[in-house]
Amino acid sequence: MTTVDMLDSITFEAGFPAMARRQGEAPGTVDLPANLTPEQRTATRELLDTTGSVLFRGFGVRTVDDFERVAQGLLGELAPYRGGDSPRQAGKGFVFNAAGPSPSRLLRAHNELSYAPWHPTTLCFACGRPADEGGATTIIDGHRVYQSLPAEIRDAFRTKGVTYIQHLPDNSGDPSGIKSWPETFETDSREKVMEWCQSSYTSAEWTDLGLLTTNRTPGTLAVGSDHREAWFNQAHIWRKDESVTPDVTTMDRRRTRFGYGAFFGDGTEIPADCIDVVGQTLIDCTVPVNWEAGDVLLVDNRAVMHGRLPFSGQREVFVAFA
Ligand SMILES: [Fe+2]
Repeated sequence: MTTVDMLDSITFEAGFPAMARRQGEAPGTVDLPANLTPEQRTATRELLDTTGSVLFRGFGVRTVDDFERVAQGLLGELAPYRGGDSPRQAGKGFVFNAAGPSPSRLLRAHNELSYAPWHPTTLCFACGRPADEGGATTIIDGHRVYQSLPAEIRDAFRTKGVTYIQHLPDNSGDPSGIKSWPETFETDSREKVMEWCQSSYTSAEWTDLGLLTTNRTPGTLAVGSDHREAWFNQAHIWRKDESVTPDVTTMDRRRTRFGYGAFFGDGTEIPADCIDVVGQTLIDCTVPVNWEAGDVLLVDNRAVMHGRLPFSGQREVFVAFA
C-alpha cells in the first residue's frame, strides 16, 4: 500500500474542531498529513475556512523532526515568534514547544500575538505525548464569543480597538516574570529592535529600565468564509490582573516597573466588569481538544482562540506559526 493509498482513506467531518480521521490501523511510523492529495488539501482548507479548526487523528507525529516536516507541509514557510510575550523554547528552527505557563495553571484563551503588529494566520499544533492527566488544548470560536457578548461590549471593542502597553526589562530573569526585550525580539541589537518597533508599533521608546511600547490594534476581525466578526484580542489577559501579569496600566507604574497593560484603543479604561463578562464568556465558549499521541491540529488564528488546561505528567505538544 502506498502512502497516497493510505491517505486516500481519510474521512473529513465538520464540527468544532472539524475532524480529518485516518482510517485503518494507527501507523507505527510517521504518516504525514503533509502528503495530502489535492482533493484532501481542498477539503482541509474548506473546513478550516468554515469551522476554524481541523484535527487530524490517526497520524504518527511523535518527534520535533516529524512535526517540522508536517508543519512545513501544511503551512508552507514557518514564522518566528518575534514580539511574543510567552516564555517559549524553540524545539527546532521555528518549531516551538507549546508548554506555556506552569502545568498547574490554566493558559487562558487568546489569539496568538493579537497584541502585536503582526500575527500568524494559521497555527499548527501536534501532540508527541499527551499528559497523564488534563492538558487539553482548548479552542474557542471567536464568532461565537462575539455573538455571545452584550452588544455594548462587542461594539466598544469593534469600534475602538485595543491599545496594548508593554514595558520590557533589559535583562532576562526579572522577578516580575516578564521577558526581556532581547528575548522578546530575538536580538540583542538596540538598533534593530528600535527600527522594527518604530516601523510597526504605535510608539516605542527606551526608558531608564528598558523598552516601553504601545500598540493599537483591532479588537475584533471580520474573518472566515463569510467574513463575520470574530473576537480577536487578549485585553482580558493584559489588563490589570496582578495574579497573572504585572500591570503597567497606570501612568505611575508605566515607567517604574515592568509589565503589560491594555486600554481601549482610544486610551480610555476598559471597565473591570466588562473584562469579567468577557472572561466568563470565553469560559462558556471553551471546547477542549483531548490529545491522542500523533494528532495534528490546524487552527485559524483569526477566527479561533486557543488555550490549555492544567495538566500533570510529561506532556509534549509542539506548535508552529505561519
Ligand atoms: Fe498561544
